Amino acid sequence: MSGGHVVVTGGAGFIGSTLCALLAASGERVVALDDLANGSPENLADAAAEAGVTPPELVRADVRDEAALARAFAGARAVFHLACLGVRHSLRHPRENHDVNALGTLLALEAARRLDVPRFVCVSTSEVYGTARRAPMPEDHPTVPHTVYGASKLAGEGYARAYHLTWGYPTVVVRPFNAYGPRSHHEGDSGEVIPKFVLRALAGRPLVVFGDGTQTRDFTFVEDTARGILEVGLHPDAPGHTVNLGAGAELTINALADLVREVTGRAVPVEHQAPRPGDVLRLLADSRLAAERFGFAPRVPLRDGLGRLVAWYARQGVDPAALLEREVVRAWEGA
Ligand SMILES: NC(=O)c1ccc[n+]([C@@H]2O[C@H](COP(=O)([O-])OP(=O)(O)OC[C@H]3O[C@@H](n4cnc5c(N)ncnc54)[C@H](O)[C@@H]3O)[C@@H](O)[C@H]2O)c1
Repeated sequence: MSGGHVVVTGGAGFIGSTLCALLAASGERVVALDDLANGSPENLADAAAEAGVTPPELVRADVRDEAALARAFAGARAVFHLACLGVRHSLRHPRENHDVNALGTLLALEAARRLDVPRFVCVSTSEVYGTARRAPMPEDHPTVPHTVYGASKLAGEGYARAYHLTWGYPTVVVRPFNAYGPRSHHEGDSGEVIPKFVLRALAGRPLVVFGDGTQTRDFTFVEDTARGILEVGLHPDAPGHTVNLGAGAELTINALADLVREVTGRAVPVEHQAPRPGDVLRLLADSRLAAERFGFAPRVPLRDGLGRLVAWYARQGVDPAALLEREVVRAWEGA
């Protein structure tokens, strides 16, 4: 590929900011397009500082704003599409979740195709699968999402494949499994299990597990996730493909709680609460396609990644208890 800049929609978010920094470190001129619903300029600055690069240009815009998309995408050589609203958000706000995740992806695809942007990388999610019927889960595993989030992401990736099949437009779909690491969300309905566990342990509070804790996930350190998105997304043979990005290690939430207690050195109790509606019970990536066809392999084992997250929180110099003031434990409940 040659030519202009690279656009990352949702670039001010958790994974997006890490991806922007990685792209900048590989010499790209990066534009982050984000409405800052859940992202922040601080994420961009922090990820850039960690990577020793200049923060990208930030275009504050809604991914459903077609004029803003056209301006940001003109002359771009690739679009990485990450902008979305999350799984817990979808339980209370299904219409808005669908609108941003499904319609937003369609509008981004249409803008990119009309402007002949030579690569469109649609960042989907393992949530499109629902609970594993067999494990590990290859890309042709049935897609039976449990939530509007998973369903709206599936619609988005379906549009990306349709643009390839209809127009020969070079789209790539990647399906990351759960990511964790610096700049992950602990707050509001964006809050994820690993940052919540780590902050709670550091603050000496119980780790809250929804359900019996036997549900499993395949956790990937965010730098690996971002590198996978970049390497698979820009691979010359990738257009038309749908590719899992996971570490290939299955862990129960109960085992995760034990590991977090070990890594933080805090013997806090575990508190079980009623399950979250729509929670997926089992996820484990079959990552052979990413490895064998596109040469991607994750590098950071979970224990090391958790240690890096704990060290990152320490560098922020903020009291974990103060950060937890923005935690909402059962974030999908309420009016
Ligand atoms: N975090 C994970 O474990 C994980 C796992 C699999 C897939 N993903 C996917 O990775 C991508 C990034 O997720 P993340 O975890 O970094 O979440 P995030 O919420 O940190 O990032 C999403 C970004 O999109 C922005 N956004 C939301 N609505 C927007 C809109 N209407 N217009 C423009 N920007 C908007 C938010 O402000 C945020 O910065 C998403 O597509 C998600 O589906 C994440």
